[in-house]
Amino acid sequence: MRFDVLTLFPDIFRGYLEQSLLKRAIEAGRVEVRLNNIRDWTHSKHNNVDDRPFGGGPGMVMKVDPVVECVEAVQSAHTEPGHLVMLTPQGRRLDQAAVEGLAQHQRLLLLCGRYEGFDERIRLILRPEEISIGDYVLNGGEVAAMVIIETVIRLVPGVLGDEDSSASDSFSGSRRWLEWAQYTRPREYRGHQVPAVLLGGNHQAIQQWREENSRERTCQRRRDLLDQE
Ligand code: ADE
Repeated sequence: MRFDVLTLFPDIFRGYLEQSLLKRAIEAGRVEVRLNNIRDWTHSKHNNVDDRPFGGGPGMVMKVDPVVECVEAVQSAHTEPGHLVMLTPQGRRLDQAAVEGLAQHQRLLLLCGRYEGFDERIRLILRPEEISIGDYVLNGGEVAAMVIIETVIRLVPGVLGDEDSSASDSFSGSRRWLEWAQYTRPREYRGHQVPAVLLGGNHQAIQQWREENSRERTCQRRRDLLDQE
């Protein structure tokens, strides 16, 4: 799986790429992440990537030409074009079904905006899939791009140590319930005991407890998920 990130702030990603699961996946050649600086595609003397909106109003708008030319350059480096995703609060809200759709692609281009938004012609010319990670406004798309990388790579075979562990995640496949409560050692901490059934070794009883716990938690915390069933 390959990600090409298009951003004005590539340094935001560097620490993230060098940690833990993602670092191992990159080292193992299962995941590749390339960072592209949109500023490299400006033509103006001062390397402007943004400008004041026509018609007035607050804030700055990302200019059409550096973004379009950066995307075209990244696309032309490969025979097959990658799937272009624009991170914007105006997009489809990301959920596990959307993540599963994105994971079908071999290569994703993640276009991160800053400022008040994108010049509308970027949408018209590039026809990206627009994705929002939630109904709130971030300072830019970079954190949203990391959310996409993080969620998609969990579905890339071999990235998680245990092949099964993403299949049992909440929201994955047809599963709509929240995960059951988990415990590890010690068996008792400040008077809080691990439920006895989990210590007993009866796999059927454990599975039943987990299903019930999962349903109960979903009912208490996210009734809306049960209502969707
Ligand atoms: N850029 C700014 N806010 C965003 C959001 N909620 N999701 C994706 N990209 C964004």
